[in-house]
Amino acid sequence: MKKTILTGLRPTGNLHLGHLFGAGTNYLKLQDDYEFFLEIADVQALTDNFNNPDKVRHNVYEITMDLLAIGIDPKKVHIFLQSKIPQIAELTVYYSNLVTVSRLFRNPTVKAEVAQKKELFGNDGESITYGFLGYPVSQAADITAFSGQLVPVGDDQLPLLEQCREIVRKFNNIYGDTLIEPEAVLSNVTRLKGLDGNEKMGKSLGNAIFLVDNEEEISKKVMGAITDPSKIKKDDPANPDICMVYYYHKLVTDNDALNTVCSECKAGKRGCVACKKELINNLVKFLEPIKDRRKKYEENPSLVKEILDDGTSYAKEKAAHTIDKVKHAMKIDY
Ligand code: TRP
Repeated sequence: MKKTILTGLRPTGNLHLGHLFGAGTNYLKLQDDYEFFLEIADVQALTDNFNNPDKVRHNVYEITMDLLAIGIDPKKVHIFLQSKIPQIAELTVYYSNLVTVSRLFRNPTVKAEVAQKKELFGNDGESITYGFLGYPVSQAADITAFSGQLVPVGDDQLPLLEQCREIVRKFNNIYGDTLIEPEAVLSNVTRLKGLDGNEKMGKSLGNAIFLVDNEEEISKKVMGAITDPSKIKKDDPANPDICMVYYYHKLVTDNDALNTVCSECKAGKRGCVACKKELINNLVKFLEPIKDRRKKYEENPSLVKEILDDGTSYAKEKAAHTIDKVKHAMKIDY
């Protein structure tokens, strides 16, 4: 029996290189050996984008195409849409009795996100919605609906997983052994820095290269990347270890060329502009096969819908089975 993996992505934007080198490559490794559910978490995305439904809807298809483009195989991975599985919403209601409001307020992930979203939730989180505060409960429903045993996530998600485990334990304690306690599989052991050297990469920071970026967009971003600030003239020697251009070369440039980049930089034999141009070329080449794969889906949106429909109907069967067990345990199986 294969173990079950469940993970989710909020459809709020396209995937960038940080997603690819963190989560994406991990998914590709896992897809052969596990029963893999990959949720497009549109209901969760609405918890902090309730005022922007167009953005969420658009990105459901964008992110699905990105996933297929990096090589997620829909024959192996059940890609499904959260809003089409009513059992998740139903489980959320039942689990909400098992979580205190103060525990939700103390969840470090929720706290960090609220602090970032002042426009939406106020300077001190005083305008936080019931839905956003409660999204860890709904995420516990996401995981348990499919009896997820392993959950590949970034380290920022660990408090959500811990909260899910607490809910499972409490449920099993009160209603009898029903749910499986999931475990995290860390997928971004090394988080990719932005081109500006920022620890976090993101659309709003303008420091990320998206898988869908074209050469012009890539050029613009790479040309603005942070290099060794002590290097003023083209032939000044510099330290590649504090240069974001070298940092990205390490991802996409082959070994021999990379050694040349490093030694020429240290010896002052390489100008930053030439070095950036080489990186742009290599990034474009690196993204080419991903773009090629994506094109097939861009030209055929009904294929994307079909993949989501198939994944969703498979997922629904599994969730229906869970909800039967849960209602039975809770004595509401009338
Ligand atoms: N909260 C996750 C994120 O923001 C997305 C997500 C939704 C998720 N449901 C999930 C992750 C279930 C793991 C398991 O990235």
